Amino acid sequence: MSVASPPWFGQWEQDGYAVLPGSWSAHTVAALAERARDWVERVPEPRTVFSSTERAQIDDAALMASASTVRGFWEPGALDDDGALRLPRAQAINKIGHALHDLDAEFSAACRSAAVAGVVRALGVARPQLVQSMLIFKQPRIGAPVVWHQDASFLITEPDSVVGLWWALEDATVDNGCLWVEPGGHRGPLRERYERSGDGLRMRALDATPWPTSNIRAVEVKAGSMVLLHGRLPHASHANTSGRSRLAFSLHLVDGAAVYSPLNWLQRDPSLRAQGFSPPPAAC
Ligand code: FE2
Repeated sequence: MSVASPPWFGQWEQDGYAVLPGSWSAHTVAALAERARDWVERVPEPRTVFSSTERAQIDDAALMASASTVRGFWEPGALDDDGALRLPRAQAINKIGHALHDLDAEFSAACRSAAVAGVVRALGVARPQLVQSMLIFKQPRIGAPVVWHQDASFLITEPDSVVGLWWALEDATVDNGCLWVEPGGHRGPLRERYERSGDGLRMRALDATPWPTSNIRAVEVKAGSMVLLHGRLPHASHANTSGRSRLAFSLHLVDGAAVYSPLNWLQRDPSLRAQGFSPPPAAC
């Protein structure tokens, strides 16, 4: 570690993640949370669910189509047999993605601040490409768990290069479904890859190493904190059992110096190619 390394860098190297409190100001957090509520009311049909525990419920075509736009994905129990919402939108939304950081001027600006660019520069990413973003709602009492996974399973590059930047837009605690990580687990193998197969998507097993059940740590953070996640770090979140929501925003980047796999579910439209930290023209 050089003398110029930032204070969080030691934790990043040792544990494969790092917490940066106050990455976004209270003003930015409030503005983005308000923007999130706007998007809940604006996201168009189709109504498709998202479940990390039962990926078969996901509409593969809708997921792939969301790569270059902004679409809503709903809690598995929120739709009736005809695909209509049983609950008000604000209570039924699971996540919204996946190009908010390019198509929403406020999210673009927050993601592309000089401070965020500086964090990524400190990681040594040669040519950061901001490929994907999501609002994750984790509704009170019905917010579904996200199973243990490694982000490098979902954004395949050769070599691995994905980095996750996860911001709490509300305080994240054990009872409302904060992140859990396996400190140091980024030095382990990549267990699986989520790949295109025919017209759909499949999870392909690579390594039988089990997901951690010990040496795991809850990452409780205040709103505005950023959690940096190495692409191979096993992480998960539990269901939200509390009466409080746990709104978060995540951004994933890859290194443009690595080869981006044609098997990735996420293929950006040529008219909206992934960019770095220089703001592209925002459309919304
Ligand atoms: Fe993840």
